[in-house]
Amino acid sequence: MSTAVSPDAFVLPSSALRGLGTRPFGVYVHVPFCATRCGYCDFNTYTAGELGTAASPGSWLEGLRRELDLAAGMLGTPPAADTVFVGGGTPSLLGADRLAAVLEAVRRSFGLADDAEVTTESNPESTSPEFFAGLREAGYTRVSLGMQSAAPHVLRILDRVHTPGRPVAAAREARAAGFEHVNLDLIYGTPGERSEDLRESLDAVLAAGVDHVSAYALIVEDGTALARRVRRGELPAPDDDVLAARYEQLDAALSSAGLHWYEVSNWAASEQARCRHNLGYWLGGDWWGAGPGAHSHVGGVRWWNVKHPARYASVLAGGEVPVAGHEVLTDTDRHLERVMLELRLAEGLPLTALGPGGVREARAAAAEGLLTGDGLAEGRAVLTDRGRLLADAVVRRLVS
Ligand SMILES: C[S@@+](CC[C@H](N)C(=O)[O-])C[C@H]1O[C@@H](n2cnc3c(N)ncnc32)[C@H](O)[C@@H]1O
Ligand code: SF4
Repeated sequence: MSTAVSPDAFVLPSSALRGLGTRPFGVYVHVPFCATRCGYCDFNTYTAGELGTAASPGSWLEGLRRELDLAAGMLGTPPAADTVFVGGGTPSLLGADRLAAVLEAVRRSFGLADDAEVTTESNPESTSPEFFAGLREAGYTRVSLGMQSAAPHVLRILDRVHTPGRPVAAAREARAAGFEHVNLDLIYGTPGERSEDLRESLDAVLAAGVDHVSAYALIVEDGTALARRVRRGELPAPDDDVLAARYEQLDAALSSAGLHWYEVSNWAASEQARCRHNLGYWLGGDWWGAGPGAHSHVGGVRWWNVKHPARYASVLAGGEVPVAGHEVLTDTDRHLERVMLELRLAEGLPLTALGPGGVREARAAAAEGLLTGDGLAEGRAVLTDRGRLLADAVVRRLVS
């Protein structure tokens, strides 16, 4: 696989471009900078110390503008973006002016749909009322804040640098600046997190008045500082039964406060509060992922960029697209992905998407209480509360 190709060498087949613009189209922008690295995180992100003089927010933004221009050319008539998601890394480290420049670059290359959803992730410690006001003015419509926990000892294990109260204060500042759509991210199952710690986090989330919550079970990723600590026996690995109990606790508290699950790890206060960008991923939409290491998907072709910000900037400065590899999804890949992603949605998956063996398994799973009887009667595979805890196992059965 090549590490970079000239714009002519990576050509999207006409079959992939067919129907472009009739499906939701999203733009993801990856910001590969963090002030410090959290011990559990294996995302493609770098501290200033790691980068030295090899790359900077300035060289990244220059590269991004070039990539978006090349992207628009490669898509022929590029559709206006229905959704934009600036993720990271820590986008808020860039400050509101640079984030405004990012959105301007997307507007210039693709255009924005009138009702576009425009999200940026932010770390609570690098936000302020002025920051949120700047984002609103630039056209951002949604903010996603990494809270993880309200318990000081849990934040310490996770190496988070913000104080326990800062995420809630930041969420309130975002709302006061006019953001109707604010998300808080939680991590549950951290070693040492007790049920009362999660209760404290949930109380804080609910007090913040946000309309969206994402909650992820802590994953011990290979190669991270957390994985080394677990391997050395300094910390216990998250326990499956504890994770299941915590998930039930979360779901009960959020739903009784009017935040309902619409994807296994995501809860929203209304249909409008759901993250349309992520729904695009889960429903097989098209998106261009720009920035170091970003992944893209258009019409069954998937590709990914070079990971290092210095390489990214230099490839683009040379007029090449920063694609490190690509694959054309087979029918089997697409079927597996569809089942894996759509089954996790509250609307479930149409049984017509399954083969005869899958439909038989769906009936058996419903008899075991993993899929709802009502869903099945309406021709859909919809996870029950218990099924959500065993979603991966149900997927494996349905693709049989
Ligand atoms: C990669 S971060 C980017 C946004 C921002 N820097 C932050 O930390 O919130 C997005 C979210 O991914 C989740 N995440 C990252 N690594 C994880 C892991 N190993 N296990 C579970 N969740 C993880 C965290 O909840 C985090 O808020
Ligand atoms: S979790 Fe967020 S802040 Fe922490 S290292 Fe990963 S991207 Fe950076």
